Amino acid sequence: MSKATVLTGITTTGTPHLGNYVGAIRPAIAASKNDNVLPCYFLADYHALIKCQEPERVRQSSLEIAATWLALGLDTSNAIFYRQSDVPEIMELTWLLTCVTAKGLMNRAHAYKAAVAENEQSEDGDTDKGITMGLFSYPILMAADILMFNAHKVPVGKDQIQHIEMARDIASRFNHIYGEHFVIPEAVVDENAATLLGLDGRKMSKSYNNTIPLFEPENKLKKLINKIKTNSLEPGEPKDPETCTLFSTYRAFARPSEVEEIRKQYAEGIGWGEMKKILFEHINTHIAPARDRYQALMQAPEHIEEELQEGAKKARAISQPFIKELRKAVGIAAISAR
Ligand code: TRP
Repeated sequence: MSKATVLTGITTTGTPHLGNYVGAIRPAIAASKNDNVLPCYFLADYHALIKCQEPERVRQSSLEIAATWLALGLDTSNAIFYRQSDVPEIMELTWLLTCVTAKGLMNRAHAYKAAVAENEQSEDGDTDKGITMGLFSYPILMAADILMFNAHKVPVGKDQIQHIEMARDIASRFNHIYGEHFVIPEAVVDENAATLLGLDGRKMSKSYNNTIPLFEPENKLKKLINKIKTNSLEPGEPKDPETCTLFSTYRAFARPSEVEEIRKQYAEGIGWGEMKKILFEHINTHIAPARDRYQALMQAPEHIEEELQEGAKKARAISQPFIKELRKAVGIAAISAR
């Protein structure tokens, strides 16, 4: 049986936080250990340019994200771990796909529609304001990421499901016109993956500015955990774990038996100070070994680059022959004798 290709990308615009870790990175690394799977994980740096025009930030984020995945034990002998922009065939495929994609399909993309809707609220009534062609055609780039490697499964958050549906549409359209070249990919939404809450109790997210960076040094981690919002119940008063950010965060890192123990302590009125201490100790112990590896990697970026170059080589061993086939299929290959 040939392996199922599982592919996902991480946009390089920020510093990985605890929410990214439990929601996406941890399950992806666990999945990469399955021998029946070919994991293709990549730094989506072409995508970063859609959201971020600060070169230094994109550069730094790429470095941090790569170091994070390697520090957390991504097995690059099994997985293909690469930087999107090291595989220029993706860009070429984007054009081939752009030419079979209906504009109307892109008009329906949530991210684009949200930007238009926001503009409609504004004074001057320019619905195109601030919307680049990059944002508009971003689902095509994402389709190229996926179809380039004929991915079977694409693990994503719920907000990305529509993009996978678009990739399926685009692939079918291309196959219909030019013959069966692409696997039709499937979105995989991990219902068991935890969604962490941030410092303010809303979903932990870069855009809410409420995150705890994954590899924050110990003292800073402690400070941030102390900032997590709680209610004002006093020590000794029974507390409801189900509505508590500290508890749900603990649960994302602890074994069920440990979670039950803490649940009891909530009923017995554990104080918030005490709970924060327990939470800090627990998370800190959990991530300390990876944090040490992360810091070592950040001191030796050339090792990170080496890994990415290895990954690019493996990726291009797939993408180069495939783009050749696709060029031929659409009629732009070199002229050959008949
Ligand atoms: N757009 C995705 C996100 O914002 C990242 C991404 C880019 C991606 N290309 C992809 C995810 C291909 C899955 C497959 O989260």
